[in-house]
Amino acid sequence: MASKTLKIAAIPGDGTGPEVTAEALKLLAAVAKIDGFTYDVEVLDWGGDRYLKTGEIIPEGGLDLLRGKDAIFLGAIGHPQVAPGILEKGLLLDLRFKLDQYINLRPVKLLPGVETPLAGRGPKDIDFVVVRENTEDLYCGVGGYLKKGTPDEVAVQQAVYTRKGCERCIRWAFDYTRQRNSPKKTLTLVAKTNVLTYGHDLWWRTFQEVAKDYPDVKTDYNHVDACCMWMVKNPDAYDVIVTTNMFGDIITDLGGILQGGMGVAAGANLNPDQGGVSMFEPMGGSAPKYTGQNVINPIAAINAMAMLLEHSGHPVSGGRIDRAVAQVTGTKMKSQAAGRMGYGTREVGDLVVAALG
Ligand code: IPM
Ligand code: MN
Repeated sequence: MASKTLKIAAIPGDGTGPEVTAEALKLLAAVAKIDGFTYDVEVLDWGGDRYLKTGEIIPEGGLDLLRGKDAIFLGAIGHPQVAPGILEKGLLLDLRFKLDQYINLRPVKLLPGVETPLAGRGPKDIDFVVVRENTEDLYCGVGGYLKKGTPDEVAVQQAVYTRKGCERCIRWAFDYTRQRNSPKKTLTLVAKTNVLTYGHDLWWRTFQEVAKDYPDVKTDYNHVDACCMWMVKNPDAYDVIVTTNMFGDIITDLGGILQGGMGVAAGANLNPDQGGVSMFEPMGGSAPKYTGQNVINPIAAINAMAMLLEHSGHPVSGGRIDRAVAQVTGTKMKSQAAGRMGYGTREVGDLVVAALG
């Protein structure tokens, strides 16, 4: 057990973000007591309200503050009075890029008692992980306009792929697949090599080369469009998927709905390098219409806290939360949809605490 204090920055954010963050922190407090570790949470008021008041998204010195932490917990961003894109780019994407969180890890796991839209499928069929590259591709912000606002307007949005960027992601995904050690032990590259003949050719060649260092891991390849079909038809065929940033964004929302929706889906933005700081978040948005009503589902945020602990030196505590969540979804909650859980937000948090054992 790590004896040093776990230093966390919490950005509860907008809308229902603070409500779900409160439940995640409730679980942190409970497992810290059980497992006997100390932690420290610095709560940051970054998000839409602060931006509207001050015009600042990440305040001066904010990045250095985060660099001094062991992990970041992000509730949700998105404010009805702030134009779409500003907070997403200015906070979420900026942190991913500037902290070089080059892995976006998205487990797609159907928990007991949780409804999936796939007929006849249960928890044993839906349990895979998407490793999404998190710093390149169409997300890099390279491009521009020509003759903007005229009938001759040209817009260019470029996808950038680097050897370093795809290799570190692919290597991490191989290591992860090896460690996960499922009976399938298969890493599937998802891309579009038949059309993106430069960028995804780089991914393809790199994948083949890195695979030589992992003879114990089976490899597979899907075009992204086919992957969308297989995720629905044969989700049980997947173990670990590695993919590019843009495709990863799309297929992880498909994965999110297969596992029961935004109420349960969580993700990690990892900088696995020495001294890197990673960020953990529920996948859903800020759902402003539910703010302050105690109806939003905190399970995704609680799952994100479990991931935070697992990746910050407290895997036993993370696993403890995972098991408690499965017990609560399996035996207590009526639904994972906001307002239909059979309990309020705080009560679901209390149920998970009670199930920790
Ligand atoms: C996600 C989100 C973000 C993304 C948005 C909010 C910029 O959809 O984490 O998947 O596209 O990466
Ligand atoms: Mn997304």
